[in-house]
Amino acid sequence: MTNTLIRGGRIITAVDDYHADILIENEKIVSIGLNLQPGANCQVIEANGMLLFPGGVDCHTHMENTFGPSVTADNFQSGTRSAAFGGTTTIIDFALQNHGTSPLQAIERAQSKADNVASIDYGFHVIITEVDKQVLEDMRYAIRHEGVSSFKMFMAYPGTVMSDDAAIFQAMRMVGQHGGMVALHAENGTIVELLIQEALAQGHTSPRHHALTRPALLEGEATHRGIKLAELAEAPVYFVHLSAKEALKHVVEARDLGIPVFAETCPHYLFFDESSYADSDESDSFDGARFVMSPPLRSKEAQNALWTALKTDDLQLISTDHCPYCMKEGHLGKMNQKPLGANDFSKIPNGVPGVETRMTVVYDGGVRSGRISLNRFVELMSTAPAKLFGLFPKKGTIAVGSDADIVIFDPNEKHTISAATQHSDVDFTLFEGHQVQGKVKKVLLRGKLLVSDDQWVGKAGQGRFISRGEVGKW
Ligand code: URP
Ligand code: ZN
Ligand code: ZN
Ligand code: ZN
Repeated sequence: MTNTLIRGGRIITAVDDYHADILIENEKIVSIGLNLQPGANCQVIEANGMLLFPGGVDCHTHMENTFGPSVTADNFQSGTRSAAFGGTTTIIDFALQNHGTSPLQAIERAQSKADNVASIDYGFHVIITEVDKQVLEDMRYAIRHEGVSSFKMFMAYPGTVMSDDAAIFQAMRMVGQHGGMVALHAENGTIVELLIQEALAQGHTSPRHHALTRPALLEGEATHRGIKLAELAEAPVYFVHLSAKEALKHVVEARDLGIPVFAETCPHYLFFDESSYADSDESDSFDGARFVMSPPLRSKEAQNALWTALKTDDLQLISTDHCPYCMKEGHLGKMNQKPLGANDFSKIPNGVPGVETRMTVVYDGGVRSGRISLNRFVELMSTAPAKLFGLFPKKGTIAVGSDADIVIFDPNEKHTISAATQHSDVDFTLFEGHQVQGKVKKVLLRGKLLVSDDQWVGKAGQGRFISRGEVGKW
């Protein structure tokens, strides 16, 4: 059956809010109107009392990503299924340029992991770790011919993935001329490394030292430097996982001057703060490891500033940085997970899960609490990432001609978040026990149901690689 009619729902886009029926044919929305009639062989989904959102677009996930000895706990099968249960129908994940290899090989390798495995649509940013003439040429080629128009570079993690300023500047200058964009992980990596070594030398090994050795000022410094490099390169720049007020102020300042600077934050920075790290020093508790991500959790004050910035468009979107590692070694056979750093915080793999909870927690904690409007919610979850990363209007809205990626959401249903009822292969969620109102009921990807009332009805492998156009233009 290729036709579907969704009847009686309340359609929410970044700008609209109205009741109408949606007719879907051959993966696309073909009609939106009142009292649409189903044709022959048309499946009808009743959506009275439901909100209809465009499928979520999460432009920062790490499925089956290798960092040092650790591989993230979700692959493209478990991770995309988990995403779908949370209302996300498109992710942009990463293709890592290994030492001595081309960005084009990285794209091929990433595609081979996701093709015929992913349940939702996907694209990639290439993580650039080495820059030379050929790499720059391959980046241009990736933008023009491979549909991969964004690149991540790290100002942190010296000795593994960190790039120096010259490499970042050269990459920005190249992609800026060809409709691409560099996304930066902004922390001053060499100073962080110095602080880590000093802490360890003093016998500080517990998870809270992860946060103490990555101060907000160093995110601020790197963000400022990244903006200046982008200005010089005459290129747009995007900051991933912005967490600190000290970083935000540089983004605000640049945007106020009309410089094309964009930034995301993540749910963990919006709902948790530094008090989550156990304050007992070198205690027996390894529990704080669940909050080990980079940048680390910040102050309550920073959290409030992030919410304000989301409202005022100083921050443009919310991505998850879904990068799950298990708290228990050996969970589902996964090794080299968080306990790797049981005696040394610097060895705890960095990252937290979040792809399944993003829309629910932001709806409950953002819309219901009055921090953002319903339209702004859709913009942050779907429209802005689609526009910024070259997916719009195929993705990111409910409109005639767009892919029929639709979330049917019950704004009234209350439920409790738990790892036990989630679909990721990781063994925890930061939101364990959180009671929320608002639940994803059904999810359609290009007109096909993936999720229906807590049941998986999709097929692994039905996700497609999405070739993206120019980015950073919005
Ligand atoms: O801690 C984090 N964020 N891990 C994932 C890798 C990255 O830096 O995005
Ligand atoms: Zn990062
Ligand atoms: Zn200590
Ligand atoms: Zn990340």
